[in-house]
Parts: sequence; structure tokens; C-alpha cells
Amino acid sequence: MSIRSNAILEVDALERRFDVSAPWLNRMIERKPIQTLRAVDGIDFVIQRGQTLALVGESGCGKSTVAKLVTGLHAPSGGKIRFHGDRDRLQMIFQDPFASLNPRWRVGRIIAEPLRTLKPDTPDDIVSARVDELLETVGLAAADRVKFPHEFSGGQRQRISIARALAGEPEFLVCDEPTSALDVSVQAQVLNLMKKLQKEMELTYLFISHDLSVVRHMADVIAVMYLGRIVEIQPTADLFANPLHPYTQLLLETIPDLEAPKRDRSPMGGEVPSPVSPPKGCTFHPRCPIAFDRCKVERPERKVEVHNRRVACFAAETKLEGPSDV
Ligand SMILES: Nc1ncnc2c1ncn2[C@@H]1O[C@H](COP(=O)(O)OP(=O)(O)O)[C@@H](O)[C@H]1O
Ligand code: SF4
Ligand SMILES: [Mg+2]
Repeated sequence: MSIRSNAILEVDALERRFDVSAPWLNRMIERKPIQTLRAVDGIDFVIQRGQTLALVGESGCGKSTVAKLVTGLHAPSGGKIRFHGDRDRLQMIFQDPFASLNPRWRVGRIIAEPLRTLKPDTPDDIVSARVDELLETVGLAAADRVKFPHEFSGGQRQRISIARALAGEPEFLVCDEPTSALDVSVQAQVLNLMKKLQKEMELTYLFISHDLSVVRHMADVIAVMYLGRIVEIQPTADLFANPLHPYTQLLLETIPDLEAPKRDRSPMGGEVPSPVSPPKGCTFHPRCPIAFDRCKVERPERKVEVHNRRVACFAAETKLEGPSDV
């Protein structure tokens, strides 16, 4: 059976550029060039129905732009997005639930809105019963429907966002750093809720985080992004057991390790370069501890795929030949 046969989302050579030039008059007077920022610079991935693909990488690497391209908030500058699900049943959960919940609406109205949009003819009593049910599904009380968003804690507000997303009867959820604003213990509760809902409702997630330890327990497949590209993609267990790209290895070294908390952890060296003028060759070479001459002039390709694994690194390519555990 082809790996793509059960795909709900296929992303091919996706690009998004932003014009970040100074205004025209300034450019003329100060002789400034047109400047293009490559936020997403040719990425490919496939998500299977009912699975979770995580996008991981440092701030600014293009994760949110991918989320906005997939949900249609941005148009691509190049490449293709093929969504095989129902567009009306694609929902998004954001990092900051407070900013995304209307502060003047009661929670009941917030949660009812997607339902009314999806099925405008639904009688009020059915909508009302569904709101109560959704509040309970996400671990809140039906009585909470009369309250306003500011009356809840951060974790509770993210539960409200989840209830609102579920009201649209989604099959595909794009979750952009859904727990990054929460305390660690609250984070775990919300992640567990999301996992439970995924199982019960057969949801598919595109799950975005800057934190590998968060996606470890959520994702079936992890794609590591650097400067608008996917540098490595592997099933989760493989990525943790055998990280191929030097950048993935650095990311793994900087996350807390429960089994060896006292292990020496060196902070990742260097700044992320600007996506307006990325380094030539492998864009990671200025930070790479094993960079060699070829890396400075030639860009490693990312197309070779072995056992659902891919890496864009000259030094790591050969390691792909080994068998995968999956
Ligand atoms: N609307 C925009 N206009 C110009 N630049 C943008 C815009 N949106 C994002 N960017 C830039 O694109 C890059 C990727 O941003 P983003 O996708 O938000 O990254 P992440 O979510 O990984 O932090 C950043 O350099 C950011 O400044
Ligand atoms: S291609 Fe070269 S610079 Fe880039 S990650 Fe691999 S070894 Fe490092
Ligand atoms: Mg972001």
C-alpha cells in the first residue's frame, strides 16, 4: 500500500515569501534594495488520517506561517497544499487563548458560534445542549457557559478554545503552540485532553511547538524546521533514538532529560541567521559543529526518503541507509 493512500494533507515544495522592503519612496531616496523574507522555503510533508505530525523549531523558523498556509490565512508563494478532508471541518487552536476568545462574549456564545456557522438551521435548544456537552467534554462545567473569558485561568481558557474548535465538528486541527503559554503541570493536562479527544474523535493534528519534549508525547512523526525548511523528518521514536541532523542533535541536548538530569548540557551556540539573507550552502553551517567545505557552497537536498525518514545534511545522508524500527 502506498504511504500516501491514507493521507489527509499533502504539502509539496511549499513556499511563502514576504516583501519586507522599505517603502518605495525611501528605497528611491536611500537607494535601498527590495528585500524578500523567505518564511517558508520549500517544504514537503504528508499527514496520515488520525495521526499527529509535529513541526518543531526555534522561534522565527516559519512554523506559524505553515499553520496559516494550511488553514488558508496566507496564500502560498509557491508549491502545493492538497487537503483531502472537508475544508469546513478544519479548525485551528492558537497559542494565546485570551487573544483568540472575544472578551465581550459569554463562553456559551463563543462555543456556539462555529456550530451556528456550520449548521445555521440548528434549533436553539439543540445548540444549547451541545454547548453544555462540549464544556463537559473538555473538563469544564455546563454552568461555565454564562461566564466571560477573563473569569478563567490560562489552562481553562485553552479548554474553551478546544471546545470551540470541537463545536465545528473538525476532522483536522492545526494547533499552533497550544500549551506554550501554560505552566508545565497545566500543559500536561491540556496535552492529555488533546490526546484523549484525538482517540475518541479520530482527529488529525498538525501540532506546532518549539519544544521537543512537548511533541514527544503527542506526535507520530516529527519534522524539525530550521530557517523555513524541514531539515529532518522521522517517526517520533526514531527521531529520539537516532537523531540524524546536527541541528536535531543540538535541540535534543538542550531539553531537560528526566533520566539523566545532571548530564552536561551546552546551550546551543550562535544566533539564528535572518531569513532575509540566509547563509549560502547549508543554511545551518555557521552553527554546525561538523560543517565542512562543501556545506558552505552547496545546499543539501531533502528529497531522499528512506522508510518514511528524510534528512537534509551531507554528513547524515548515509545514515539513512540503515533500517527503521517502524
Ligand atoms: N506577515 C509577515 N510579514 C513579514 N514577515 C513575516 C510575516 N509573518 C512572519 N514573518 C516572518 O517570517 C519568519 C517566520 O515567522 P513565523 O512563521 O511566525 O515563525 P515561528 O512561528 O516559527 O516563530 C520570521 O522571520 C517572521 O518575522
Ligand atoms: S550539511 Fe554540513 S553544515 Fe549542514 S548540517 Fe550537515 S554537516 Fe552541518
Ligand atoms: Mg509561531
